[in-house]
Formats: sequence, C-alpha cells, structure tokens
Amino acid sequence: MSDRRRFIAGNWKMNKTIAEAEELVQALLPRVGAVEDVDVVVCPPYLSLQAVVDSARGSAVQVYAQNMHEQDAGAFTGEVSAPMLTEIDVAGVILGHSERRQLCGETDRALQLKVPKALESGLIPILCVGETEEERERGDTERKLRHQVQEGLEKVPKERLHEVVVAYEPIWAIGTGLVATPEQAQDAIAFVRALVQGFDKEAGNRVRILYGGSLKPDNAAELLALPDVDGALVGGASLDAESFATIVETARA
Ligand code: 13P
Repeated sequence: MSDRRRFIAGNWKMNKTIAEAEELVQALLPRVGAVEDVDVVVCPPYLSLQAVVDSARGSAVQVYAQNMHEQDAGAFTGEVSAPMLTEIDVAGVILGHSERRQLCGETDRALQLKVPKALESGLIPILCVGETEEERERGDTERKLRHQVQEGLEKVPKERLHEVVVAYEPIWAIGTGLVATPEQAQDAIAFVRALVQGFDKEAGNRVRILYGGSLKPDNAAELLALPDVDGALVGGASLDAESFATIVETARA
C-alpha cells in the first residue's frame, strides 16, 4: 500500500433537509467520528453545512461543500464564495462534479480559477473528472481526462499541487449501479496520476485520487485495493450511515 492517506468522502448531492442532515451526522459520528487513519469527509448541501459543521466539531469528520464560485463576492445571484464557506469552518469543496458540468453549465475555464482559489482560501478542492459512456466507447477516455485534469490544475502553484484531491468518476457509473471494473478504474486513475506527474513528479506521487460511481459496501474492497486508488467519492451509499461507515472501515483495512 502507498503512504498516501486514504480519503473517503460522501457527496450527499441535493439530499437531506437540515433536520435530516443533522440526523445523518448524528448517526455517523459514533461510527466514524473517531477514525484517525483515514480522512472522512461529508459534503452536505449548502443550507445544512452550518449544522453539520457544528455537530462534527471535535470529531475526525470534516465537512466540505459541493461547489463554490471563483470570486469572493459580487453580482452572482445564487452563488456562494470561498470566504462564506471558510467563515463557517467548512474544510474543502467538491469542484467540477459531472452533474454540475452537465446540468449547471460548469466550465473548465471556471474550474481553472476555482481550484487555485479554493487552495488560496484554505479549502481542499476535490476536482472531479470523468468520461461519458459515448466517450469511452469512442476510445476518447484518455483525451477527456487529459483535458479536464490539465485545465483544472493549470493555475495551481506546483508546490500546492499535492494538496488537491482528484476524483475519477466515469459518468456512466454515477447513480446507475454500473460500477467500473477494477481494471477500468486502475487504468484511468493511473493515467490521471501520470498527468499530475507531468506537472510535477513528486506531486503526482503524493496526490490522492479517488474513484466514484456506484461504489457500495459490497464492491468497495476490490476498488480500494487497487494500487493507484486512494479512496472514494460516494454518492447514494453515503446517505445511509451504516453503509458509509462500512466503506470507511473497508478503507482502513
Ligand atoms: P453514486 O455513488 O450514487 O453513483 O454517485 C457517485 C457520485 O457522483 C459521487 O460524487
């Protein structure tokens, strides 16, 4: 196993009211609140962030947001900025999730600013990349990943590159129950690592790269055992305390 610290994040997406988020974090804390050997992260919707941060304070669970604007303030109706997140002790942020790219007009150009902005502001960015089913079938997976990784990391100072977390999420595997085979996941993630090594060899060796897409307790072990996979970005299975805790335990093994 590498000496990269394992990282398990639950992306709650647009699920859970404040009361429900509170209930979920209260169920999670006794199960994963004292885990010291894996980074355990939950990503609730904006409105629940404050409540979840307050509940998780003093535990090992870190709270990340699901998106952030690249500017600190301004006329950007409906957006939330880095200083607003750090003010309430949010520790990081998912950037470039495929749902935001596909459904909400997120662009590589904005991500080029968002990733370094997050780092400057004291937030750990999880940069999401991944190909569609069509792109995989056309043999365009590597081209897509190269483009997304290069755009997303281009403006990150070399000495901070290793702090970025990258999540490889094949779009065809998200919410479909169709999980990447270990070979597909390992190949894509090793390719992403090589791209980061292309920016800086040492950073590429240190950067954590996650797998995401229909990861569940029953397939977590084989994916987390792959040499270049350092953790997971979990959607559906993170909405249930028991199954998320089982995935965290699997990462510790
Ligand atoms: P699922 O685990 O529900 O497939 O979602 C993955 C994901 O998009 C995490 O960001």
